[in-house]
Amino acid sequence: METIFAKADEQSIALAAELIKNGDIVAIPTETVYGIAADACNGEAIKKIFKAKGRPQDNPLIVHISDEAMLYEAAAYVNDDAKKLAEAFWPGPLTIIMPKGEKISAENCAGLDSVGVRMPSDPVAHAIIKACGVPLGAPSANLSGKPSPTCAEDVMADMDGRLPLIIDGGEALRGVESTVISVLEDTPLLLRPGYVTKEDMEAVLGKKIAVSSAISEKLKEGEAVRSPGMKYKHYAPQAEITIIDGSLEQFAEYIKQYGKEGTYCLCFTGEEDKLELPCVAYGHEHDGAEQAHMLFSCLRELDRRGARAAFARCPDKDGVSLAVYNRLLRAAAFRVVKLK
Ligand code: TXA
Ligand code: MG
Repeated sequence: METIFAKADEQSIALAAELIKNGDIVAIPTETVYGIAADACNGEAIKKIFKAKGRPQDNPLIVHISDEAMLYEAAAYVNDDAKKLAEAFWPGPLTIIMPKGEKISAENCAGLDSVGVRMPSDPVAHAIIKACGVPLGAPSANLSGKPSPTCAEDVMADMDGRLPLIIDGGEALRGVESTVISVLEDTPLLLRPGYVTKEDMEAVLGKKIAVSSAISEKLKEGEAVRSPGMKYKHYAPQAEITIIDGSLEQFAEYIKQYGKEGTYCLCFTGEEDKLELPCVAYGHEHDGAEQAHMLFSCLRELDRRGARAAFARCPDKDGVSLAVYNRLLRAAAFRVVKLK
């Protein structure tokens, strides 16, 4: 299959909508990461996404909407917590898990009776959903297991020949996938951290949010998981990543001992001169938003440089940084060396 790579404009947006309405799949920009979109109500179209990504069949897709009317098509019931969160954070990088609406295909939700819904703020994503007139199921536009793509070129690297059209809307503003929260029970449950933080949402809801243990810990053998996406090895470049949890001085000492040919540092911006291995910097220390914006493109950069291993500086574990830590932990397959 030939893949068309097109800058976002009126014409390419119309072509994307036509393809999607006809049951095909298209890669589109969003403010978090690029997605592969299809009509969420069309099970056959949704199956094409799973095939193109090599995605496990039991991992449901987030449904993307452009207005409030679509929310009531996607979800069977919108409770007060969902309303408050939508009001405060939409359009934006927050996915809310609610009871599934009838029209959404079983394939989209991998057979679950719940659905994750979000209204993206990216203007191109908004225009495409609106032109389609139906909610769009869309996972991140990477091959399953690879780092999520934050620019159209990274989508092309994974998806060339696997789908008919990639819409180039420039670099993604936020760089990590949406926050995922379930409001199915009285105490909301954070399933995936993102740019919208637990602290932000607690302030809006006026109550505590529970945090899924799968965010910062490896699942035990056979343990049930609420968000199926959390159980797979994820976001991984070719290089074997190890997180070093310690000060810059400890990090510098550690890599002197263990660094070898083909080993890189995934360090904070400004530290490059203090380290004795080649470096890829993923943003300033303590700046979670900047790190979120840069992390996935840095993981892909390690691949482009042929890195065989990389030692990563450890991000903070709260606010937006929790999202960065969560993705890096999975990229590292939970390898963490604690020096403090
Ligand atoms: O920012 C994003 O959310 C991007 C862009 C394209 O919108 N999409 C994205 O999709 O990250 P994906 O498929 O890579 O991740 C979806 C996550 C998975 O962890 C999945 O298990 C979870 O959301 N999820 C979706 N529906 C769910 C449901 N009904 N219950 C629990 N978890 C669900
Ligand atoms: Mg993904």
